[in-house]
Amino acid sequence: MANESVNIVDKRTNASYDLPISKGTIRAMDLRQIKANADDFGLMTYDPAFMNTASCQSAITFIDGDKGILRYRGYSIEDLAEKCTFLEVAYLILFGELPTTVQLTQWVNEITHHTMIHETTKKFLEGFSFNAHPMGMYISTVAALSTIYPDARNISDPATRRLQICRLIGKVPTIAAYTYRHSLGYPYVYPDNELSYTENFMNMLWRMVEPKYQANAVLARALDILFILHADHEQNCSANVMRAVGSSQADPYVCTAAAAAALSGPLHGGANEEVLRMLDEIGSKERILAFLENVKAGRGKLMGFGHRIYKNYDPRARIIKWAADRVFEVTGRNPKLEIALELERIALADEYFIKRKLYPNVDFYSGIIYQAMGFKPEMFTVLFAIPRTVGWLAQWQEMLADPEQKISRPRQIYTGHELRKFVPIEKRTAEAVVG
Ligand code: CMC
Repeated sequence: MANESVNIVDKRTNASYDLPISKGTIRAMDLRQIKANADDFGLMTYDPAFMNTASCQSAITFIDGDKGILRYRGYSIEDLAEKCTFLEVAYLILFGELPTTVQLTQWVNEITHHTMIHETTKKFLEGFSFNAHPMGMYISTVAALSTIYPDARNISDPATRRLQICRLIGKVPTIAAYTYRHSLGYPYVYPDNELSYTENFMNMLWRMVEPKYQANAVLARALDILFILHADHEQNCSANVMRAVGSSQADPYVCTAAAAAALSGPLHGGANEEVLRMLDEIGSKERILAFLENVKAGRGKLMGFGHRIYKNYDPRARIIKWAADRVFEVTGRNPKLEIALELERIALADEYFIKRKLYPNVDFYSGIIYQAMGFKPEMFTVLFAIPRTVGWLAQWQEMLADPEQKISRPRQIYTGHELRKFVPIEKRTAEAVVG
């Protein structure tokens, strides 16, 4: 559209500024020219929690939160979940196009040959206490890969980057499975290169004394679908961390560990674990109304509901609900499903949730499936981190290739003291209380 601009009149000086609009956005740096006087630093924007700030241009994931649309590289999540494997979608997210048969075979082969972890990494994992939270073990072990692959610091070389990407995608299920086996005190199971990505993960989780692990095809496919749904979600908290840490040119292992740390919080990927705790706390359908009254009174949140971007049903939650039915045909129905379905029904009809456009998000039903498959709630966020590694790496690559990106460094509005006269220790009084 020609002549797209916004006119700003600074009432302090009566000066007028035309700021160009591109893609529905003005550049924050264009505001810097707006000054009250020659010494003025220039106008800034204040946007805690990035409520209205685009930090990058990205061609990876599209979300229309009002309509409940999610696409990777232009393909609908519904099509991808129905027709693709996780590694096929990983290729799409990372390289921009769906792979041909030859490309996919090569890609699967590449990932499969990076599933083994160094024996010292296994020993590192052995050092954790058995009751350590799997997410803590996972984050630390992913960071520790940085010590095994010092070449990863050469982030400007595309071939080195690709190698680390393959290593990370190949190794995260192995690390995740090892944290699971460690918490149970079981011996570790080495990867089996003849199995698919999710079948091999199941092998490393659940194989006991049988010579060859046979994954249940329905469960393996359900896990694959869950991985597809969790693979990327544009500039969420952890993707933003991946980009911010990566912008300092840190290696991809420590960047991925930092992103996983962001994911672990209960407002982000840790919500799936909290949903199960909440359903346990509610305990029966009869107690749902009382629970919701507490939420509406500001005492706690309805975990697995609400989203910064979705103001409609999260399309991933819809697909997960569908996948849950397939899983329950194998595992038997998780009794918590009844409570969750009733909770959703009541909340969606309640004025509080309608007014705030709060709908179930991806975490509302995923934990119910994971629990039916035999996972403890502590493992749920680790299961989220495995596929999201693909999204983080795609965001990291895109950031590195973007000539507009620099080290990530926001501004602040300083609200502290002006210059104060230094007080020697013997003259200080105990006025200030820290914390
Ligand atoms: N239960 C009850 N009230 C809620 C909830 C909820 N789950 N989520 C938001 N609200 C209320 C909130 O109190 C506020 O009310 P008011 O206007 O009266 O102050 C209003 O809705 C707007 O919420 P907000 O906190 O300003 O929204 P946000 O965009 O900052 O937060 C969120 C988004 C996901 C952190 C939040 O909805 C939440 O805490 N949900 C529960 C945790 C959860 O399920 N997280 C997983 C998110 S999806 C997967 C992922 O990203 O990892």
